[in-house]
Amino acid sequence: MVDYDTPKTQHKALLKWIQKMVELCEPDAVHWCDGSQKEADGLFDMMVDKGMCVKLNEKLRPNSYLFRSDPSDVARVESKTFICSQNRHGAGPTNNWEDPRTMRRKMKGLFKGCMHGRTMYVIPFSMGPVGGPISKIGVELTDSPYVVVNMRIMARIGDPVLEVLGDDGFFVPCLHSVGYPLDEGVEDVPWPCDPENTHIVHFPEERTIVSYGSGYGGNALLGKKCLALRIASTMARDEGWMAEHMLILGLEEPDGTKTYVAAAFPSACGKTNFAMLTPPEGMDGYKVTCVGDDIAWIKPGPDGRLYAINPEAGFFGVAPGTSVKTNPSAMSSCERDSIFTNVALTDDGDVWWEGMTDEAPAHLIDWKGNDWTPGSETPSAHPNSRFTAPAANCPVIDPDWEKPEGVRIHAIVFGGRRMSDVPLVTQAFNWGHGVYLGATIGSEMTAAAEGTVGKIRRDPMAMLPFCGYHMGDYFRHWIRMQRDLNETPRIFNVNWFRKGEEGNFLWPGFSQNMRPLRWIVERATGRAGAKETPIGWMPRYEDLDWRGIDFSEEDYDKLMDFDRERIRMQTLPHEELFLKLHTHLPKEMIFERELLISRL
Ligand code: GTP
Ligand code: SPV
Ligand code: MN
Repeated sequence: MVDYDTPKTQHKALLKWIQKMVELCEPDAVHWCDGSQKEADGLFDMMVDKGMCVKLNEKLRPNSYLFRSDPSDVARVESKTFICSQNRHGAGPTNNWEDPRTMRRKMKGLFKGCMHGRTMYVIPFSMGPVGGPISKIGVELTDSPYVVVNMRIMARIGDPVLEVLGDDGFFVPCLHSVGYPLDEGVEDVPWPCDPENTHIVHFPEERTIVSYGSGYGGNALLGKKCLALRIASTMARDEGWMAEHMLILGLEEPDGTKTYVAAAFPSACGKTNFAMLTPPEGMDGYKVTCVGDDIAWIKPGPDGRLYAINPEAGFFGVAPGTSVKTNPSAMSSCERDSIFTNVALTDDGDVWWEGMTDEAPAHLIDWKGNDWTPGSETPSAHPNSRFTAPAANCPVIDPDWEKPEGVRIHAIVFGGRRMSDVPLVTQAFNWGHGVYLGATIGSEMTAAAEGTVGKIRRDPMAMLPFCGYHMGDYFRHWIRMQRDLNETPRIFNVNWFRKGEEGNFLWPGFSQNMRPLRWIVERATGRAGAKETPIGWMPRYEDLDWRGIDFSEEDYDKLMDFDRERIRMQTLPHEELFLKLHTHLPKEMIFERELLISRL
């Protein structure tokens, strides 16, 4: 007998789908999440009792909890992420593909009885403000209470969503299981998962998501990368808008002028930091406000300009390196009401991670639950450890961050983590050139996904792991967007990570990124100077605001330098990507490449 909550909706398709999934997964109980604080408190109490998490010191970190994952379930697993379009070409060569019928059969086998001994939680959620014109509704079924409490921060969940969904509204069905049924003789563990059988599967034509075996981040919080990027990007292609791996920030100038910028950097390459930037000393009167730190849904408005919303309601931010010095706003955001995953625990019941303070505490419990001292050989927090914090906690959250129709975007910025070759900031000559810049972004790999950290890979628009269809068609969609617009945002390329011969960063980054940001905003609104170069418009030394910092023209030249021969040779890896995408590549990409080589 399944212990059912009374469903809170008359939505026939939703009820029918849930009934079918209950029959497949065979949970002990079904619980409809209302999204209330009381519900969350109950779940946390239950998880503390079961040893799944630790309640942090209520005085030091109110209403906050620490989870330690299984050591084999710590990041997105791109090798186990699939786009199951009807046709192989629908997914393209950069995604894993499997025939949808074969995959559905495989998933059915895995999900059969997978929720034995567990509760199935029904999470109705809205990506974007509930009822907003750009927002989309999903329903996640999961056997992970960790997922429920995280989704409650990252999205708008519960009863208000069901109300907007009504009896026949559209929703994206999202099925998730940690894949650890409590069958006879099986003992529960603090972080159940099934790494061997992990599958994160998208059916783009059906707009459905099925995820098995992982409880971590983007693998399990299905509203985030799965819905808001992979499924949404296919919707956006079909409907004429854009779903992007971008932060959205507002820059307020001393005279009150406000300009919004969207920026795409690959995972763990600085989006959260840039989104909440604190202007440096000397640049008084400037203020950066945050609309979002990871995902942007961008749509042409009735005036033919681009408007963006942040579909999320919280931050799932990289912990290591986050400090009061580098990102005070992120530190305030997770001061309370937050969830920490795989960071270290202090002796007084608070959290710590590498880079939070200059000096490490004398004793910690590390992310694996072991004693740790500054002499230990491994980091105390996992490099991809994260905080989940409500966006509303952010002291610089933009007053319009929940505006249902979004904020007007004047500039789009692409960036990556490149220790050489790529200058601090350049502006594309036009939309087509900008799309080429975004399409050919290379970045050193990070701990946010499995793979070799440090190796350069092409990560077009920071969307390589998140595009739900053929990358060639995705570039075409970008090119095509211009045709429906009266005015396109200006496009820029940045690199905060250039290094000198001794391996030191040439640019201090963080707060100091305000200087290139000011130039970007002024260029995008027709106010700043620049010089033309073969790779784009670049600020001369005197075009940047240097108040409050001693940064010599000589150092600046090192940061902005580019070697024509090396840039020419870099079109080879571009070409490698283009050849891979050849059958679907828009011709504009080839033309832009030719133009670049001729200019050099
Ligand atoms: P995801 O959440 O994975 O999408 O990552 P993200 O793009 O939001 O990256 P985040 O802002 O969390 O930064 C990742 C890492 O880069 C952190 O360790 C930061 O300290 C570091 N970082 C961010 N901005 C800068 C910068 O301007 N300079 C340098 N040197 N490091 C930076
Ligand atoms: C990323 O990897 O880009 C993230 C973290 O933002 S996750 O939600 O796990 O995808
Ligand atoms: Mn991200």
